[in-house]
Amino acid sequence: MSAVSIAVGAYLVASLLFILSLAGLSRHESARNGVSYGIAGMALALAATVGLLVHDTDETIPLVLLVVAVAVGASIGLWWARSVAMTGMPELIALLHSFVGLAAVLVGWNGYLHDEGLTGSLRQIHSAEVVIGVFIGAVTFTGSIVANLKLSARMKSAPLMLPGKNAINLGALAVFAALTVWFTVSPNLGVLIAVTAVALALGWHLVASIGGGDMPVVVSMLNSYSGWAAAASGFLLDNNLLIVTGALVGSSGAYLSYIMCEAMNRSFISVIAGGFGIEVAASGDTDYGEHHEISAEEVAELLADASSVIITPGYGMAVAQAQYPVAELTSKLRARGVDVRFGIHPVAGRLPGHMNVLLAEAKVPYDVVLEMDEINDDFPRTDVVLVIGANDTVNPAALEEPGSPIAGMPVLHVWEAKDVIVFKRSMAVGYAGVQNPLFFRDNTHMLFGDAKDRVEDIVRQLADIPQQVSR
Ligand code: TAP
Repeated sequence: MSAVSIAVGAYLVASLLFILSLAGLSRHESARNGVSYGIAGMALALAATVGLLVHDTDETIPLVLLVVAVAVGASIGLWWARSVAMTGMPELIALLHSFVGLAAVLVGWNGYLHDEGLTGSLRQIHSAEVVIGVFIGAVTFTGSIVANLKLSARMKSAPLMLPGKNAINLGALAVFAALTVWFTVSPNLGVLIAVTAVALALGWHLVASIGGGDMPVVVSMLNSYSGWAAAASGFLLDNNLLIVTGALVGSSGAYLSYIMCEAMNRSFISVIAGGFGIEVAASGDTDYGEHHEISAEEVAELLADASSVIITPGYGMAVAQAQYPVAELTSKLRARGVDVRFGIHPVAGRLPGHMNVLLAEAKVPYDVVLEMDEINDDFPRTDVVLVIGANDTVNPAALEEPGSPIAGMPVLHVWEAKDVIVFKRSMAVGYAGVQNPLFFRDNTHMLFGDAKDRVEDIVRQLADIPQQVSR
């Protein structure tokens, strides 16, 4: 059997492993297996690619370059993955998407500089591949850089509001279409430079003009774009594995964006066009009145008297690493006969499934962890809601204030419960930069401080309160 056939077979097996990986990742119970399939697929793909290069070349320099590149990349990747905090994952993912975009741009440019004397329609197809690959790659590159800057708070999360932003985006697409035709008919350096510049500017503008509350959709959309950029590179490099893998990432990312859009009540088409939810200004000057504070001791008493409790965690729980005392509080309350459940908003935290991962890590039983839609009707029958480091995902302004930047986003209806306890350190706004009228309601009590410390205080106080004999 030739080396090429072995590599093609290995690519096929790697593709199947990637599909099994995606299938595994769709459920808690099989997620660990999914990751193992993905690692095995990637190891096989790398081994086959290195094997092909070794087989095809007699020179040592490309091999040395390959070994050095893999060694440097793997060392940085390993160090970064081990040291990144869970809350830093989304910005790291955005940065990794930008690398895929940049790689697609470089592959496209390389394809133009080395067109290997193609002629006729083959040359036109090649040119179209070049220009499309460069365009998707450049949009992904700058879009992901902006996403990284916004997620790491090095750039304001508020949307950039250039006048006529939709016209700018549409104009850029029209220019790209015209330049694509030009380049396909007559490839030349000037047009490729223009396409690259337009795409870099468009990627920057698309993501810069989107507000913080809509960032989850943007990240999954960039994930999808990075997949299509990789697939475009696969066509140029004539690499089937890259085409299959790129298409898998592109389509699964697009599906994730669709689910996110549903969850956030946004239109999928307008997300792709990069112009959603940003025609409104933040309403930061409304006076909602006074807030009321509460102590950990008083919260412990409320909980001891409650028969039903819902906990709605958010990004602050991840920052405080409060999931362990939260799990302890949950088991103590359940031992006292209190019905404790969790309500998880689809975009709570900073990455899909963020809260589920933290709660699973702290060994909270899966069956009490419910999705927003499964629990939202139960709040009126609930005695106490503990809002632990959540803000935008429990903000009634999304339903009640049509001018709010988060208007239309479904939220957890925590305010319908008898008592709501909000754990946070200050009266600061959430990620979307919008004030939360929940904090000023009569049945809301603010428990200030680090969420982990406050939950631990409550667990201690609860131990001193005798358990009621019957409930
Ligand atoms: P956020 O709106 O981000 O609010 C988190 C709250 O936690 C803040 O108000 C903060 O208030 C508090 N907090 C921070 N550190 C804390 C600590 N150590 N102890 C106690 N409280 C602490 O949270 P959310 O409700 O989870 O909403 C998520 C937001 O992120 C949404 O806007 C969503 O669109 C966006 N987003 C989500 C994703 C995904 S995929 N999930 C990705 C990107 C963006 P203080 O500073 O006053 O303590």
